[in-house]
Amino acid sequence: MKILILNGPNLNLLGVREKSIYGSQSFELYFEELQQAFPGLELSYFQSNTEGVLIDKLHEVGFSYKGIVLNAAAYTHTSVALSDAIKAIETPVVEVHISNVFAREAFRHKSMIAPYCIGSISGFGLESYRLALQYFERLKPKQIGFGAKSS
Ligand code: DQA
Repeated sequence: MKILILNGPNLNLLGVREKSIYGSQSFELYFEELQQAFPGLELSYFQSNTEGVLIDKLHEVGFSYKGIVLNAAAYTHTSVALSDAIKAIETPVVEVHISNVFAREAFRHKSMIAPYCIGSISGFGLESYRLALQYFERLKPKQIGFGAKSS
């Protein structure tokens, strides 16, 4: 069961950037923990600071992988192109955020991608990713979420 974790802009600086909001752990180390915690999932990880590269990655895996865990970071709030890409692919996407975006600035309350994702997880620190993977781990073959992409 192939699952991609896809991180957007500035998330390469996790562990360094705004530690009071995003914590002090690098994603690479956390990814190793996730691989150990989910031996039944074939996990891969990709990060880019570039909108088009993220879109290319969605196109690349979006017709063969079982799931995508996407932290689109700031593009969450701005990108029509990314939301169109999620709409265009078949693989279900779960939106994640490390911080609670609803407890922050008003511009972070709007997600362009949320309507096209299975669901959204926000505010649990890096554990937001683990919660998203639990969703895919428990998914029965052919079963897809509630609402988005269920038809
Ligand atoms: C973020 C929240 C976004 O608003 C912000 O632009 C990020 C990270 C999060 O994981 O909390 O870069 O997606």
